[in-house]
Amino acid sequence: MLDKGYKLLQHAGKRLSGPAVLSRLRDSAVVRPGFLSAVEEEMLSRELELELRRRHYEYGHWDAAIHGFRETGKACWTAASRAILQRVQAAAFGPNQTLLSSVHLLDLEPRGYIKPHVDSVKFCGDTIAGLSLLSPSVMRLVHTQEPGEWLELLLEPGSLYILRGSARYDFSQEILRDEESYFGDRPVAQGRHISVICGSLPGIHIYFLNIIYHTTPSNKVPFLWNSSPSFNLSFIVKIQGFILLLLCSLDMLFLAQM
Ligand code: OGA
Ligand code: MN
Repeated sequence: MLDKGYKLLQHAGKRLSGPAVLSRLRDSAVVRPGFLSAVEEEMLSRELELELRRRHYEYGHWDAAIHGFRETGKACWTAASRAILQRVQAAAFGPNQTLLSSVHLLDLEPRGYIKPHVDSVKFCGDTIAGLSLLSPSVMRLVHTQEPGEWLELLLEPGSLYILRGSARYDFSQEILRDEESYFGDRPVAQGRHISVICGSLPGIHIYFLNIIYHTTPSNKVPFLWNSSPSFNLSFIVKIQGFILLLLCSLDMLFLAQM
């Protein structure tokens, strides 16, 4: 039974270390090849090019987790792209999840790659969903405590990947560099690859936890999505946390007096 599922999943753009990881990540790491039509893919790529071409490729992320990339956030979209993002929302996010208002655009040049990391819990909630454009690449997920447990996703142009729950928190994610880019025996020639990444909003408690614990995650995997100078971002998050705490306290004081 498991064997059959294992083979089926290989056909659907996944490779796994074995049945254990299959049952662990059956619903939390998903890839949907052909999520975009060729016309949608072309239209979306053209729209993104306008945003990206003003930026230069960078070769050293602050924590050196990512090389040969440019990135930006995008909040305003044409009606046609909004319709695509709504399909992503329906496919990947639950009715109770709010999406981050800014979509993360990541453009990796052909020799670009992303080292293993877990996305920052400060900036993104339980679910991450990415559309892949232009050329294929391989995303590898490795369990942060048990490195023998891994899964690879083939990100073909036009595909959608979804990482949630255990796949998002317990596994590091990476995009293989060109020399290592194989899907099983098949070499995956890596050209320029663009990801359009939507994330869910982290819970409000993250702001409070951040103040109380300064949110240092317990494992040692570097975290992305806090790419700007970390002092400024965590400072802003802390200020926001204090303001929220203050507002809640005032609220409670007010209620207590009524
Ligand atoms: C990231 C990331 C993978 C991708 O930006 O944190 O892991 O889809 N991106 O390119
Ligand atoms: Mn990531």
